[in-house]
Amino acid sequence: MSLSSEDRQKLVVLAVNARQKAYAPYSHYSVGAALLTRAGLIYTGCNVENAAYPTTMCAERVAVFTAVAQGQRVIDAIVVATSNGGSPCGSCRQVLAEFGLDTLVICIDESGKVVIETDLRSLLPGAFTPLDLA
Ligand code: THU
Repeated sequence: MSLSSEDRQKLVVLAVNARQKAYAPYSHYSVGAALLTRAGLIYTGCNVENAAYPTTMCAERVAVFTAVAQGQRVIDAIVVATSNGGSPCGSCRQVLAEFGLDTLVICIDESGKVVIETDLRSLLPGAFTPLDLA
């Protein structure tokens, strides 16, 4: 998946902004995500933690669920902003995989440096997808 430099820049800015909204009083690990759909729409998310720890939701899944709730199911690219450019967790990889393995995944650190740039197929080899249920 190729991403124009304009779209890339937009996603980076919006992911960094979304990270500012993170509710992470327990881990203190703030995450922001911004994704671009095939229709050219952008959705964002941040992690939302909870005193009952397992009910915490990751930034990437907030963004994906928001996109899907708005009728957008094809995700061309997602930028994830963290302090250190950390990689999407397994649950987020699985949720992203549901909507395509070609999604470009870019992880940036707080200086804006790209730490990871890959696609979902590489992040989740052998993914279980809707095709497995066909
Ligand atoms: N987190 C995300 O938002 N995305 C990931 O892919 C990895 C982890 C959040 C969950 C929790 O609020 C914090 O980071 C520490 O795990």
